[in-house]
Amino acid sequence: MPPIHPIMNRVREMRARGETVYSMAQAVPWYGPPEEAMKEFMAEFETAGFNFYSPDPGLLSARTALTDDFRNRRSIDLDPGSELHLTCGASQAFVSALMSVADQGERVVVLEPYYFDHVFAVQFSGLELDSIPMTEGESWQVPWNEVEKRIPGAAAMVLVNPGNPTGTALSREELRKIVKITGEHRCALIVDETYQQFNFTGSTWHPWEEKQYSHVLTLGSFSKSYSLSGWRLGYLFGSENILTEALKVQDSVVICPPTPSQILLEKCLQYPEWVNERSREVEKRLNLCRKAMMKSQGLQWREPGGGFFTLAGIPEGINSYKLAEKLIDEFAIATIPGDAFGESGRGHLRFSFGCLSEEQLEPAMEALASVVIAP
Ligand SMILES: Cc1ncc(COP(=O)(O)O)c(C=O)c1O
Repeated sequence: MPPIHPIMNRVREMRARGETVYSMAQAVPWYGPPEEAMKEFMAEFETAGFNFYSPDPGLLSARTALTDDFRNRRSIDLDPGSELHLTCGASQAFVSALMSVADQGERVVVLEPYYFDHVFAVQFSGLELDSIPMTEGESWQVPWNEVEKRIPGAAAMVLVNPGNPTGTALSREELRKIVKITGEHRCALIVDETYQQFNFTGSTWHPWEEKQYSHVLTLGSFSKSYSLSGWRLGYLFGSENILTEALKVQDSVVICPPTPSQILLEKCLQYPEWVNERSREVEKRLNLCRKAMMKSQGLQWREPGGGFFTLAGIPEGINSYKLAEKLIDEFAIATIPGDAFGESGRGHLRFSFGCLSEEQLEPAMEALASVVIAP
């Protein structure tokens, strides 16, 4: 069972019973999509309906709206006809990317603690998982020596930037280094940029700003930026020859992403400043969460550079599953046990600061500050 399910079922049950629970577990933003965009969408929906398949890679108008957004906001110039697909979320984009660059039995490098859905996809695709433990200090860092050793001979490396669950946000130099090493060894680089618009200290540079590196595939999501998680919409961009392969996966698994979602995306993309405001708010919440956790006893803050999470340390010898239960029972705080993110996640809990509602923020931070964990 995906490790997030038991905890989220518990959150739903508690809410159904009318009990207070502060969910710092699954990264579902506290806000909904831009209201204006939704109004415009509803007006069009009344008359148009959008009941049919779109072209496999998405409506050309929606792809063009997204390539315009990338050009304006990020200086990335893509051909909407051949270098970009709209997908059923970053999740399906990842499966499409992986299946397009790696064949059964080949090795795929991931940094650990990892995003568990990536690992499920590697395993069910019959690929060999090669996970490299990150270096833990006051934040989580890339272990460069190991990365340099393990990339040669691998079919692909997966990079989540900013990271889930660690919040690690790479500098421009670090990104350049990974692009260079993977390129030299003909290893595909799959960049998951689901939290791209929530990057506080890392670089927002992308290699395709300079050159269309054929070994770099990038995927992202609208589940966080525009809070469209239930609309199942994400994207994949890369070189035309790889995307031709990816389209076969997309066609066989889902045919196309939901047509109404693409129309809503077109409306949302008219409000880029709206996302910037949400991002500033997430950063404020990060600061509140740090302050509260510093007051707690037993939780060790790990500084994230972006994203929605901190992967905090817990006292040695304490089981993260049991501690997650205790935090719900005694403090009404739901978190994800670190073990869910691989061996190096053991001895940690992931806290999301991006999901608490406005009303819950203050009491949740008070509850967090009051946590005492006896070693
Ligand atoms: C790193 C990462 N990739 C992918 C996803 C899934 O995104 P989507 O809802 O677009 O499938 C998530 C969701 O939390 C995530 O954290």
